[in-house]
Amino acid sequence: MDVRSFVRALPKAELHLHLEGALEPEMLMRLARRNKVGIPFRTVEEIRAAYRFSELQDFLDIYYRGMDVLRTEEDFHDLTAAYLERAAADGAVHVELFFDPQGHTGRGIPFAVAADGILAALADGRERQGVTSLLIMCVLRHLSEEEGFAAFREAGPYIADGRIAGLGLDSSEKDHPPAKFERLFAAAREAGLRLVAHAGEEGPASYVADAVDRLGVDRIDHGNRALEDPALVRRLAGRGIALTVCPLSNLRLCGVPDMRQHPLKRMLDAGLKATVNSDDPAYFGGYLVDNFVAVAEALDLDRADLVTLARNSIEGSFLDEAAKQGHLDGIARSAGADG
Ligand code: ADE
Ligand code: ZN
Repeated sequence: MDVRSFVRALPKAELHLHLEGALEPEMLMRLARRNKVGIPFRTVEEIRAAYRFSELQDFLDIYYRGMDVLRTEEDFHDLTAAYLERAAADGAVHVELFFDPQGHTGRGIPFAVAADGILAALADGRERQGVTSLLIMCVLRHLSEEEGFAAFREAGPYIADGRIAGLGLDSSEKDHPPAKFERLFAAAREAGLRLVAHAGEEGPASYVADAVDRLGVDRIDHGNRALEDPALVRRLAGRGIALTVCPLSNLRLCGVPDMRQHPLKRMLDAGLKATVNSDDPAYFGGYLVDNFVAVAEALDLDRADLVTLARNSIEGSFLDEAAKQGHLDGIARSAGADG
C-alpha cells in the first residue's frame, strides 16, 4: 500500500484548522458574487497568484482580506461543510476547528451569524459523515485583552451549553506574548473551556513556556521553536502536551526552507506528542493527508511513525477517554490490516 492510501485509511483527528483558512479561491469568488462584495481579482488563478508570502504577517493580511466575503450564516455553513467533506475523505474521524469571531464582528457580522452557520454544518457532518467535532474560538492576539474579553462575553451562551468547547490564541505572534492574555485565559478556564494557544511559530521558545505556565494551555499550536530549549522540550514531553504541527504551513511561514529539514521527526524522537495538521489548507496548498504525505516522504517516516502520529492526534484531542480508546483500537485494526 502506498503512503497516501495507508495514511488515508488510518483513523485520525485534525486539531489545528482555521475555518477561514479553508476558504478556497473558488468559494471566495462564488461568495463574492453571491454577496456582491468587490474583490481585486477576476479569476481563481489571480487569487492563487496573490498567495505570495514568506512571513506570518503577509499571510495574515491576505487571510483577513479573504474572509470579508463571509457574510451570512449560509456562507459559514458552506465553508464548514466543504472543509468537512475534505476531512472525511482524508479519513478524519474527529476535528477540532478554530474560528476567529473578532475577524467577523470587527466588520459588522454578528457573532451568532458565524457561530450558528458553523455549528449547523458540524451537526450535519456528525450525522452524514460520522465525523465528530468541537469548536474552538480564537482571540486575535494583535488586539487587546479587553477586546478578547468582549468576544468571550459574546460567546457566553455558546460556552454555557458546550457549543464552544475551547479558547485559542492566534494571529500575529511577534510582540504579543501569552502573558498579555493571562486574565482572559484564567476566566476561560473558570468557565470550563479547554485552552490552546499558537506559540513558537514566529515567537521564541519562551512564548511556548509562557503559554503552558501562564495561560495553562492543554495543547500548543505549532510549537516548533520549543526545540530551541531542551529543558522545555523535556517538560512538554514529560507532561504529554500535544503540539499541533502544520508541515505545509511551516514551509511558508516558519522558516523551514525545505521539507527535508522539517523538525517533525526530531520532535517524535524527543518524545514530544507531535501531531500533523493543515492550519490554513486553502492558502498552504494541502489538506490533512497532503500534510502527512509531504512530511512522510521528505523525512522518510516509516509506518510506525505514521501510526504514532495518528495515535497522537487522538490522544491529544479533547475527546473523552472512551471515544479515544475506540479510535485507538481503530488505528490498530487499520495498521494491522496492512500487515
Ligand atoms: N490565523 C490563521 N492561521 C494562523 C497561523 N498559522 N498563525 C497565526 N494565526 C493564524
Ligand atoms: Zn494556525
